[in-house]
Amino acid sequence: MYKIDKITNTIIKGDSIEELKKIPKNSVNLIFADPPYNLQLEKDLFRPNQSKVDGVFDEWDQFESLKAYEKFSLQWIKEVKRVLKKDGSFWVIGSYHNIFKIGNIIQDLGFWILNDVIWVKSNPMPNFMGTRFNNAHETLIWCTPHKDSKFTFNYREMKHFNTAEDEKQMRSDWIIPICQGKERLKDDEGKKLHSTQKPEELLFRVILSSSNPGDVILDPFSGTGTTCAVAKKLGRQYIGIEMDKSYHKKSVERVNNVQSVDPNLLNFNIRKNEVKVPIGTLIANELFTIGEYFYWNNGMNRAALKENGTLVLESDGFIGSIHKVSAHLLDKKSNNGWTYWFVKRGKELVSIDSIRKQYIQEHYTDKDEEIKSLFD
Ligand SMILES: C[S@@+](CC[C@H](N)C(=O)[O-])C[C@H]1O[C@@H](n2cnc3c(N)ncnc32)[C@H](O)[C@@H]1O
Repeated sequence: MYKIDKITNTIIKGDSIEELKKIPKNSVNLIFADPPYNLQLEKDLFRPNQSKVDGVFDEWDQFESLKAYEKFSLQWIKEVKRVLKKDGSFWVIGSYHNIFKIGNIIQDLGFWILNDVIWVKSNPMPNFMGTRFNNAHETLIWCTPHKDSKFTFNYREMKHFNTAEDEKQMRSDWIIPICQGKERLKDDEGKKLHSTQKPEELLFRVILSSSNPGDVILDPFSGTGTTCAVAKKLGRQYIGIEMDKSYHKKSVERVNNVQSVDPNLLNFNIRKNEVKVPIGTLIANELFTIGEYFYWNNGMNRAALKENGTLVLESDGFIGSIHKVSAHLLDKKSNNGWTYWFVKRGKELVSIDSIRKQYIQEHYTDKDEEIKSLFD
């Protein structure tokens, strides 16, 4: 049996069922699992222009039968229940191929489901054959090990993270782009390392909503290390388990390069626009850095950015959303903070609104034209 402090902040190379068995019971605060999907893809998929689709054909996703997948799922989820603290949280993500089986097992094992969250992909891969609906989402189940678990839910943090419609509750449909660009890990030949690397923003929401700084976060199928990287960034401890040698190596390198946020910034207690991108999305995508200064009126005032998207005004310590703090400075009840704040980029002061608009342009463009061209 491992000693928990000996394995925290490491990614274990090995089989998750075997490794989970060695983790002490009631030792982990949050488990996020992104298990094999059991996609059952039997033959290559081609686009109308005959180019091959980059689907999930990996060995780790192959199971002899649905029964074999069910048996495997039961084994690891039983271990999840054992290692999770009584008041801990369990999150699991999947697609229509596996999420119903997993949901069934979860309920049979006595977990208590709190929410299912739909990850709506703002830029999904098209259904190239045009034979079904475009599969544009995945489902996350959030549950506790028991009905009476006193789980963590950072309700206010999530409201603030959602800074666009001030003080609106965060909903259970999360619109987030698939992982792409510089966030996507490459292999030594410069090709996509992993077929199902999750976007950091998804983990940002999971970890920020249902754990506290210092908590132990475990991912039994850690792949490229997304969960571990975000946990470290947000001042949590992490344990990853991954059986593939190359994913393991690259994930360790990735996590080693992550800087933790100053814990003082994490302990403070914190809205969308035309396309409604919340400030939390821009933080999670590293367009803003936790702790950096937002400048007001050519630098007359400045405020530090917190991980949950609030600002802490330097002059009087006032804390609130970008809107609240700008209203406070103008002595008004409300104000649109997007057009009032600037950040330093090199020697220049750049409007946060221009950064947000650039992000929207890159991630929320209508893919219809692109898809149509494939069928021409
Ligand atoms: C869906 S992927 C997870 C991707 C990950 N969330 C990320 O963002 O990179 C599932 C991962 O589980 C690993 N895996 C599958 N079966 C495993 C097992 N029995 N033990 C450990 N890892 C396993 C695979 O190698 C794969 O990297």
